Amino acid sequence: MKVLITGGGGFLGHRLAQAIAARGALAGPDGREHAVTAIRLLDTAFPPGAESRFDCVAGDLSAPGVIERVLERDTGAVFHLAAVVSGGAEADFDLGMRVNLDGTRALLEACRRLAGPPRFVFASSVAAFGGDLPPVLDDTTTPNPQTSYGMQKVVGEYLVTEFSRRGFIDGRSLRLPTIVVRPGKPNLAASSFASGIIREPLNGEPSALPVPDTTGIWLLSPGRVIEAFIHAHELASAAWGVNRVVNLPGISVTVREMLAALARIAGPAVAARVTYQPDERIQRIVKTWPAAFRTDRALALGFRADAGIEDVIREYIRDQGLAVQG
Ligand SMILES: NC(=O)c1ccc[n+]([C@@H]2O[C@H](COP(=O)([O-])OP(=O)(O)OC[C@H]3O[C@@H](n4cnc5c(N)ncnc54)[C@H](O)[C@@H]3O)[C@@H](O)[C@H]2O)c1
Repeated sequence: MKVLITGGGGFLGHRLAQAIAARGALAGPDGREHAVTAIRLLDTAFPPGAESRFDCVAGDLSAPGVIERVLERDTGAVFHLAAVVSGGAEADFDLGMRVNLDGTRALLEACRRLAGPPRFVFASSVAAFGGDLPPVLDDTTTPNPQTSYGMQKVVGEYLVTEFSRRGFIDGRSLRLPTIVVRPGKPNLAASSFASGIIREPLNGEPSALPVPDTTGIWLLSPGRVIEAFIHAHELASAAWGVNRVVNLPGISVTVREMLAALARIAGPAVAARVTYQPDERIQRIVKTWPAAFRTDRALALGFRADAGIEDVIREYIRDQGLAVQG
């Protein structure tokens, strides 16, 4: 079976490609497991080594003709992760609309022309929520995004649900928590600091905290979210029913708790590399995001969260092969 991952050169898309390759099989549109015969990645750029392992196509999802070029008629699984991330879509309204909204619709339209409706997994976000929120959100909380990015994700969810109802795709949208710890360099996501305050100190570098340390974050590790993408794909259509969107499980922690866990694992001198440097632009965006959820539906569907923030930090240290003396 052929698999397409948009955003396949990105942080999560590339890991997902590696995980699918290691698994070797996915459920096809008929519900039975099929050997994965090709994994195609669409992105504007790829990390070193990707091109030798995967079928990488460099291109802009929102440019005319690109989707038609990458989506083969017998593609059975589409994972749609390409996006202009939160800070980027807020800084450039037109770019966010073109890629996150028009690009998503164009991809869905192209799926209608495939041999059969593919399973379609869409990376949405808890940025779907905002405004006056209860302290703990649940499966009944109404999305009310307060950023362009959040709005584009919610419209994408509605499109995925509608295209599924029509039988054009078999869609599933996952509202991702903030994924921590992201390796590499800071990115344009307003939540970038949530990884930076762990990653930079562990690399011996200073890190600027743009929000107060009382700020709560709803987070999940890269390992658990990759499991979630595959689990979402593998669940039978009937398990989703008419509700094609789910809030993924996560853990709720404050920045202060994250830094305390870092100090326990790597020592107080490492955690002290983080200093508060308020940034009003980031604070305005982050304060609209929810920090705690009850995710009964996701848990009933078999999704799972990390055990705690220490496990999340230890996973990063292990993945990166860092030597840490606590
Ligand atoms: N990482 C998180 O904390 C988080 C949280 C919530 C939701 N998400 C969503 O998960 C998905 C993956 O996130 P990520 O952390 O891997 O981000 P990422 O920025 O590393 O990956 C997104 C990829 O999309 C690509 N892309 C952007 N515009 C494109 C275009 N026009 N054509 C083709 N490719 C394009 C980028 O080059 C990038 O490689 C995104 O949709 C994001 O909105 C991520």
